[in-house]
Amino acid sequence: MPILRRFKLQLLLLLSTALGSFTLLVAQDGFCSESYSAFDVVSNSMQLYAKVTNPTLSPSHLKDLPGFTRSTYRIDHALITPESHVFSPLPEWKDALGAYLITPAMGSHFVMYLVKMQDNSRSGLPPNDVERFVFVVEGTVTLSNGSGINNKLMVDSYAYLPPNIRHSIVSDVSSTLVVFERRYAYLENHATEQIVGSTDNQPLLETPGEIFGLRKLLPTSTAYDFNIHIMDFQPGEFLNVKEVHYNQHGLLLLEGQGIYRLGDSWYPVQAGDAIWMAPFVPQWYAALGKTRTRYLLYKDVNRDPL
Ligand SMILES: *[C@@H]1O[C@H](CO)[C@@H](O)[C@H](O)[C@H]1NC(C)=O
Repeated sequence: MPILRRFKLQLLLLLSTALGSFTLLVAQDGFCSESYSAFDVVSNSMQLYAKVTNPTLSPSHLKDLPGFTRSTYRIDHALITPESHVFSPLPEWKDALGAYLITPAMGSHFVMYLVKMQDNSRSGLPPNDVERFVFVVEGTVTLSNGSGINNKLMVDSYAYLPPNIRHSIVSDVSSTLVVFERRYAYLENHATEQIVGSTDNQPLLETPGEIFGLRKLLPTSTAYDFNIHIMDFQPGEFLNVKEVHYNQHGLLLLEGQGIYRLGDSWYPVQAGDAIWMAPFVPQWYAALGKTRTRYLLYKDVNRDPL
């Protein structure tokens, strides 16, 4: 963060403590986007998915409250909110910091992690037989697999790498990725291929009985043992089905805010929040506020649960 901007933010925080009425204004506005616009930081928050990586994510009146976090960890679900992220060097990567949000220690068969890259950071390879899905939340990266043809991935672009494909992801500027990996569930006579795409280029799919917009980022063919859904809700829209199913989910809220029901708990959530859903946890979402909700969702598919 440029020093000048940090100074402006500090000034803003100072002001907001000093002026009770101003604090109230901020509270009413939720994530204080309007109050920041007065300080010319708006260009940043206008960028696609900027709230995922923007440090203003926690409401300013709660952010610095000692011991306060919205994160929670239960036997069949977890909500991991940005103020509880812990980044540390990723062993195989160069100059990259990772925060694991979902791992098998929770009961999942996949990992979901955020990666912060500087200019020219470089990915490592996943372990043998592990497939990888990468989605760019911030910045631009270049994907190479030694074929001589490189792919530039910008915000909203993604890549799927089959197991045991040598590849590297190098950041062109400072960038943030969300990464999913799992041990590929091999099936005879089926193999996955490298996929590179962009959310906007994926068609909106029919969702009978539902109202949200759905895009699938991976092919639905049998070879693929998971898919990544992008789901859009206008404010006030909610899931019709109160889902209970065998599949597991890893979710990253990219835009908006609302209420997520997980088991018997109802959580206020916002862009930047991540959710782990174990098999069979009752789940439901309603979008609130003034802007659409968009979330990205891992779901295991196409394999016999036995
Ligand atoms: C390597 O990348 C190129 C360009 O995206 C692609 O056409 C090719 O299929 C990839 N190779 C493998 C083995 O996936």
